Amino acid sequence: MSAERPSWAPQHIDVDTPNAARVYDYFLGGGCNFEQDRLFAERFLEIVPNVDRSFRANRAFLRRAVQFCVDAGIRQFLDIGSGIPTVGNVHEIAQRMAPECRVVYVDNEPIAVAHSEAILADNANAAVLHADLSDPDTILDSAPVARLLDFDQPMALLMVAVLHFVPDSADPRASVARYLRPLASNSHFVVSHGSVAGMAEVPAGAERHYDDTTTPFISRTPAQVMELMAGTELVEPGLVWVPQWRPEMDQDVGEHPEQIGIMGAVGRKP
Ligand SMILES: C[S@@+](CC[C@H](N)C(=O)[O-])C[C@H]1O[C@@H](n2cnc3c(N)ncnc32)[C@H](O)[C@@H]1O
Repeated sequence: MSAERPSWAPQHIDVDTPNAARVYDYFLGGGCNFEQDRLFAERFLEIVPNVDRSFRANRAFLRRAVQFCVDAGIRQFLDIGSGIPTVGNVHEIAQRMAPECRVVYVDNEPIAVAHSEAILADNANAAVLHADLSDPDTILDSAPVARLLDFDQPMALLMVAVLHFVPDSADPRASVARYLRPLASNSHFVVSHGSVAGMAEVPAGAERHYDDTTTPFISRTPAQVMELMAGTELVEPGLVWVPQWRPEMDQDVGEHPEQIGIMGAVGRKP
């Protein structure tokens, strides 16, 4: 039994086992996390000093990729593995540029969904769904998707920092293919994915640190991530470490972007 259960945390939520959504929230400075998430995050920082930089770099990639999509004329977004709302959510970025943008968020973590519902209560053009990435039919046939997304128009499908929580046994490639199939031509697929492939030396214990969470982490190689994006044409600069993806300033890239350990790409459906 947990020593700490804030009054806002529903009884059915396991607050004793760290969870990726809440650990990420902690690293980004949010308040929707529990003691075990924070301890887990601090242990991670001991194993990989500056790992918080990776989380922020991922969030910055998400922002740039959404801006790229809006600039490309996209006005609707399906964001799967959307996380606990924090500064710079997809609807905020997109609707600031084009108020008519519509967004459906999907996450399988109840706290992320509850907080998204609260934030979106007054936003007629955005909604959240509690569902799992590996259940495409439920998501594609859901009421929020039917209400907000038009499959005759291009849309952006976002899977940012989520596919590395989906094991091969769940066949993420088949799920992705199922999501891409009904999308209109010129739809965009935004992906970021954790990988130790660029690191000369992987800090001991880093890759297995998430094993005892509700969301074990799977590192994939660039070739494996490319396979997940099959059926799309990557826009420049292709699949790169997230700071290298269309940086706003050269100095944002840093000297060793591979140490960030997260790759990102945007694919366009022909
Ligand atoms: C690291 S956060 C990323 C949040 C956001 N996409 C971003 O990049 O800023 C990963 C999110 O994916 C969610 N997630 C993990 N596995 C999932 C699955 N199988 N289906 C739906 N969401 C999942 C977690 O609950 C968490 O909110």
